Amino acid sequence: MRVRIGLVGAGGVGARHARTLAGFDDVELVGIADADPAACAGLAAELGIPVVDTVDQLLQASLDGVWLCVPPFAHGELELRAVRAGLPFFVEKPLAADLAVAETVAEVVAASAVPTATGYHWRHLDTVARAREVLATSSPRLVGLTWQDKVPPPAWWSTAALSGGQVVEQATHVLDLARVLVGEVVEVHAAAAPSSAPGRDVADATTAILAFASGAVGTLAATCTLAAKGRAGIEVAADGVLVELTETSLRIVRADGDEQLQPAVDGRLAVDRAFVDVLSGRPAPPGLVDYAEALCTHRVACAIAESVRTNGPVRVGASGR
Ligand SMILES: NC(=O)c1ccc[n+]([C@@H]2O[C@H](COP(=O)([O-])OP(=O)(O)OC[C@H]3O[C@@H](n4cnc5c(N)ncnc54)[C@H](O)[C@@H]3O)[C@@H](O)[C@H]2O)c1
Repeated sequence: MRVRIGLVGAGGVGARHARTLAGFDDVELVGIADADPAACAGLAAELGIPVVDTVDQLLQASLDGVWLCVPPFAHGELELRAVRAGLPFFVEKPLAADLAVAETVAEVVAASAVPTATGYHWRHLDTVARAREVLATSSPRLVGLTWQDKVPPPAWWSTAALSGGQVVEQATHVLDLARVLVGEVVEVHAAAAPSSAPGRDVADATTAILAFASGAVGTLAATCTLAAKGRAGIEVAADGVLVELTETSLRIVRADGDEQLQPAVDGRLAVDRAFVDVLSGRPAPPGLVDYAEALCTHRVACAIAESVRTNGPVRVGASGR
């Protein structure tokens, strides 16, 4: 039996998921809907699937699941419609541009039996599993998170009210890793270098101090002023070991030498495979991040954004409602 999937949002990441899903023998990609139907035409023609005029029409197409690949500002109603239709959904990160929308969706998802998954694909990397294993027995104390990047092409990205800003939209991947490797962040205190670019109100750079429940401390440093993506990753210093992790590399430094690894898993493919497996009735693979789990990461990112706005420390989860 093939899993029937619909796609909402035919932009950069929607196209990536569509091509991945179309490559799975056990998936039937039923149709694509987009607020701008013209945006779907090329992708639909490439994959030989129909453009569906409205999201509601797509949701009524006897689907087994829907992939929601829309920008941060477009979340909320789409997820609620999927839940009302009893339809499992995959949603790209971030969950929303702010916290209130994500908290509302999370409540509705929790009250339903609808399975969910999110686009935190780094969690599927075998290198993340190895880093987790090392740090589980060595008490992390100091964490460094970095996201050095350019301004991405979509126009909405440069308006903080639409994208959530760089920390919510991009650095959320490394905040998620910090939670996986070190545990919950309980308080943040952030500052930002305001935008120096006309027409962009997303900060040039953001830095934050993070306090973890375990007593570990950390920093986040993010900038979008580069011409191309620079370093994005996490460094964790623990008892006698340093772990340096990016999407493409893992280095574990101990007194007796270094261990260097590259992922054997393609996280971008694995994240789709994992949710298709769930929709096929197989157990959830370990890397799968459901909506409730992703919300915990989104709360940290939103707390950092709020700390910048209020110029003071913010307790994670105590803001944004
Ligand atoms: N996991 C990852 O590594 C990763 C990588 C890239 C992008 N993303 C995330 O994916 C999301 C989308 O990014 P993108 O680069 O594809 O953006 P994009 O602007 O290229 O595409 C978004 C598409 O969604 C459509 N859309 C907007 N509102 C809609 C609505 N209400 N209903 C239906 N369609 C709607 C737009 O018309 C557009 O075609 C962002 O949140 C981004 O952070 C994740």
